Amino acid sequence: MNKHTQFKAEVAGMGIYVPAEVRTNADLEKTLDTSDEWIRTRTGICERHIAGKDESSSTLGIQAGKMALESANISPEEVDIIIVCTSTPDILFPATACFVQKGIGAVNAAAYDISAVCSGFVFGLSIAEQYIKSGRYRHVLVIGSETNSRIVDWSDRSTCILFGDGAGAMLLKSVESDEPKGLLSSHIHSDGEKSDFIIVPGGIGKTGVSHTAIDEGEYFIKMAGSATFKAAVKRMTEVSQEALDFNGLSTEDVTLVVPHQANRRIIDAVTDKLGIPSEKVFMNIEKYGNTSAASIPIAIHEAREAGLIVPGSLTLLAVVGAGLTWGAALIKW
Ligand SMILES: CC(C)(COP(=O)(O)OP(=O)(O)OC[C@H]1O[C@@H](n2cnc3c(N)ncnc32)[C@H](O)[C@@H]1OP(=O)(O)O)[C@@H](O)C(=O)NCCC(=O)NCCS
Repeated sequence: MNKHTQFKAEVAGMGIYVPAEVRTNADLEKTLDTSDEWIRTRTGICERHIAGKDESSSTLGIQAGKMALESANISPEEVDIIIVCTSTPDILFPATACFVQKGIGAVNAAAYDISAVCSGFVFGLSIAEQYIKSGRYRHVLVIGSETNSRIVDWSDRSTCILFGDGAGAMLLKSVESDEPKGLLSSHIHSDGEKSDFIIVPGGIGKTGVSHTAIDEGEYFIKMAGSATFKAAVKRMTEVSQEALDFNGLSTEDVTLVVPHQANRRIIDAVTDKLGIPSEKVFMNIEKYGNTSAASIPIAIHEAREAGLIVPGSLTLLAVVGAGLTWGAALIKW
């Protein structure tokens, strides 16, 4: 390399994995005061996948990661960095990424987790982008993997209907090019003033784990649904525009928006505000619900499989998550 070489982060491979068990809205009707009709019309969700007792964020991530390497035709030994984006790590530590490293045999990789909850994957991409553009690393595996079913209160109809489990992985590869190519840019933000919008309040370092906190349900997701909804629409819209402006592009240049799959009505409101027609917006929320950090990579993979992302396409990713965190990225394929 010479000092003028421009490194771009190209998507070399992708993989996904969702657990076999499916929990439908009709299943939830049996134990909750809810209805399939309410869930579909308020969220767009019809069913979600639920991890089995021998599954965890690392086992889902391993499956997705292996598939991404195979599709990229890259051997595990060639991976330099593994970033696992998760808010449902297997255990407190070591990082879930270390279990994934072991599972896929990426013996030369440094592996660690990041926590930006539903925004995790785009935050992970922003790190991978810097590693690759700096010229320091060639292959970065970014995995979003979640077992939300373990941290939802299945008796709370206002939250449990929303979430599901799954994993998605993207292998980013360094290529030398002067053309706009691969991950064009990523844009990330946080607002800790809104940390109580979506929160699992149970303490670890703060109070230690206590029986009282467990009994009071503090290790389950609590959410201010309506405030989160409004913040999601505002922030996803703003950051999408920021990503486009940064690259001198307009919404007309976008081939496909792949938004975080949290609520169909949030996605409709964001894309309406941006003036992007619904045929340019990918949704698979009906099958998976909100799989947090796994939502975006699962959706990108399925959009590619459906032929909606082809060489030359421009994809806009937009996310929001607990923190509050939000972000966007543009990928030129
Ligand atoms: C959670 C969410 C679907 C609730 O939808 P909403 O239209 O805002 O509904 P509200 O919270 O105003 O509740 C309306 C009514 O439905 C009821 N309700 C809530 N969940 C229900 C359910 N699963 N089934 C039936 N009724 C339900 C409420 O109790 C309330 O009843 P009330 O009017 O008698 O008090 C919506 O706020 C949302 O999606 N927010 C964003 C959540 C999110 O995406 N979080 C993750 C971001 S990464």
